[in-house]
Parts: sequence; C-alpha cells; structure tokens
Amino acid sequence: QTAKWTMEQAKKGGFDHFMLKEIFEQPQVLSDTIHPRIIDGFPSFTQDGINDNFWLHFNRISIVACGTALHAGMVGKAIIEKLSHIPVECDIASEFRYRNPIMTKNTLVIVISQSGETLDTLAAVRLAKLRGLPTLAIVNVPGSSISREADYTIYTYAGPEISVASTKAYSVQLSIMYLVAMKLAMTTGTRSFEEIRTLSKGLLEAAEASQQVLKLKEEAKFCAQQFAKIKDLFFFGRGLDYSLSLEGSLKMKEISYIHCEAYAAGEMKHGTIALIAPDVPVVAVCTQEFLLSKMIGNIKEVQSRGANVLLITKEGMEIDPELYNHRIDLPALDDIFMPLVGVIVLQLLAYYSAVIRDLDVDKPRNLAKSVTVE
Ligand code: G6P
Repeated sequence: QTAKWTMEQAKKGGFDHFMLKEIFEQPQVLSDTIHPRIIDGFPSFTQDGINDNFWLHFNRISIVACGTALHAGMVGKAIIEKLSHIPVECDIASEFRYRNPIMTKNTLVIVISQSGETLDTLAAVRLAKLRGLPTLAIVNVPGSSISREADYTIYTYAGPEISVASTKAYSVQLSIMYLVAMKLAMTTGTRSFEEIRTLSKGLLEAAEASQQVLKLKEEAKFCAQQFAKIKDLFFFGRGLDYSLSLEGSLKMKEISYIHCEAYAAGEMKHGTIALIAPDVPVVAVCTQEFLLSKMIGNIKEVQSRGANVLLITKEGMEIDPELYNHRIDLPALDDIFMPLVGVIVLQLLAYYSAVIRDLDVDKPRNLAKSVTVE
C-alpha cells in the first residue's frame, strides 16, 4: 500500500522554506508511518506484504545506504542489535558495492533510501540479489527504482520531500528501524510480548513528543544566532547520540556551510581535541542516561580547552550548569527513543544557521536531492 501524494503537500503552505515546513510535518508523518504498522499493540508489516514468518530466518543483517539514510541505518544497527541480538553491519553504499562484502546465507540486506533512486544504493540491491540474498528496501518514493528491484519494500509515508536537506524522511526511516527491531525481537523471542507492547507504546509516545520539540524553535534560533560568526563547529556524543551527532553535523554543513565534524565523544582525545579552541563551539548531544558520567568527562575535556558548549540533553538529567553555555532540554523518553526527538532540534539549529547567513536553504550549493550518478 502506498500513500497518495497531493499537490497541496508540494507547496510551502505558509512556511518560509520547504525545509521548515518539512521539519514541522514530522509529528504527522511519523504518526502516518507508525500507526498502520502497530496492530493490537504489536509491530506488523502485513500491510507491506511481509508476513510474520519472513522475520524468522536471519542470523545477520546488512544495512546499506547513503547520506542521511545511512545515519538512520546507524541508529537502526544499534537498536536491532540491542533488541534482537542479531549482528548488524551498516555500510556506506558506495563502499559496500566495491569491497566484496561477506554475505553469508541467512543474511537480510536492508537498504534505506528516501528517493529510491540513489545509484550506489540500487547497486547494493543488485549485488545482494546476485548473491542470492533477500533484499528489503525502506523507501519513500512510491514506484522508485529501488522499490521495484528489491524483493520487499516498506514505504515510509513522509510524502514528497522537496528541500534538498533531508529531514522528515530521516525521522520516518528511524521509525521503521524501531518497528523492524521490535518485530525481529518478537519473532526471535529475545524480548517478551509484554516488553514489545511497552516498546510499541514508547514509539507512539515518541512520535507524539516530536510535537513538543517543535516548540523549541525559538531556542534553536537563539543558539544559531550565537553561532553567527563561527567557521568551525563540532558535534559529539556517545552511542545513539554519536549517530545523531553525525546527522546534526551533516545537516549543518549541507545548508549553513559551516565546517562541522561529528565525533564519538570518547574518541576526541585521540587527535581531534587539538582543534578545540575558544572560537570553536561544541554541540554536546547527551541524551543517554547510562552514558551520562562518561559524557560529563568528555564535556569537561573540551570546556577546559575553551570551547563554548551547547548541551542537548533531556529533562531531568543532572548536569552541572558550569559545564555548558546553553542547555536545551528534550522530552524525557526512554534512551532508545531519544534520536527521534533529538534530531528535530539539530535540524532547527541547522535551519536557522543557514537563514541567519542568508543562504538558499532549500537548494544548497553543489548538492542534489537525488544522486543517480556515481
Ligand atoms: C543525497 C541527498 C541527501 C540524501 C542522500 C541519499 O546526497 O542530498 O539528503 O540523504 O542523497 O539519498 P536517498 O534518496 O537514497 O535517501
């Protein structure tokens, strides 16, 4: 089943840019994508033509994608491994196709693509099929090349994404990753039915909480104003926050042209910390409770080198106010769902950084919405 796209969706509808409109559509498209796949409190892909037996056969998963979709895949790897204990690899499509990947029997190859047309991702589907492996595509554009060639397709219902910088497509890709992880955990029995029910509820609550995050718009704008003159910026985090930092950094560089890098916070000290100086701010993404004390240590490391710290955390996390210049609080969800709300603030931060610089937000230089060449 594919969603109907209307002309109305393809207009700016009162927003200054498509990107902002699409950021604000996230609560709705998350709801559209998740609801039909939670039946009686459990994840289900029967509407996508995938029956429950399908999920029983895999002892390895390979996720392949490019750009923002790759970052959704990285979050997917972490949550599938956590919930189902199935080992997952996550590859950059342009690397995967030329590295002669080891693909053993019982490996499921999942590709993620908003457009469904990215050439390297399509090549990954073809390679997997050549090796006789099942392919599952998570795609937004109905009838696109990848959806036609993959064995199975789960459509994200983001509607048309016009802005070159991908926003709502990422969120719905994440939501499918959660549902796939839950489905695998349910079929392989690594989680009880009760736990799956709680997780399904948690996912729906996270989708609803995204509405609250949009209210942080002015705060994100204020922080972007503080970044008005900077040339370099770092993002760091641990675990899921590291994957989220990669997406925040990509969004920022794509549209604001600020030089950004994202690091696993514990890795900074192995070289990158040499670049930290008073005029190089750090966005510290710190939403994972079990990693809090480690993150505090890493924040101290950059702060003592003079960095201004923008802390993105969640309500209730106890962090000494001396350690940051500004703190943004996200709704307090279970750690596992924090990327769904965290990304919205990072998108808004990138958006306002580009607006303040008077840049062409929806059509950044040198970038294409869909990369159909090598
Ligand atoms: C291009 C776009 C990115 C996108 C990437 C992958 O580089 O500018 O926003 O994440 O391609 O695209 P896909 O359509 O496969 O998700």
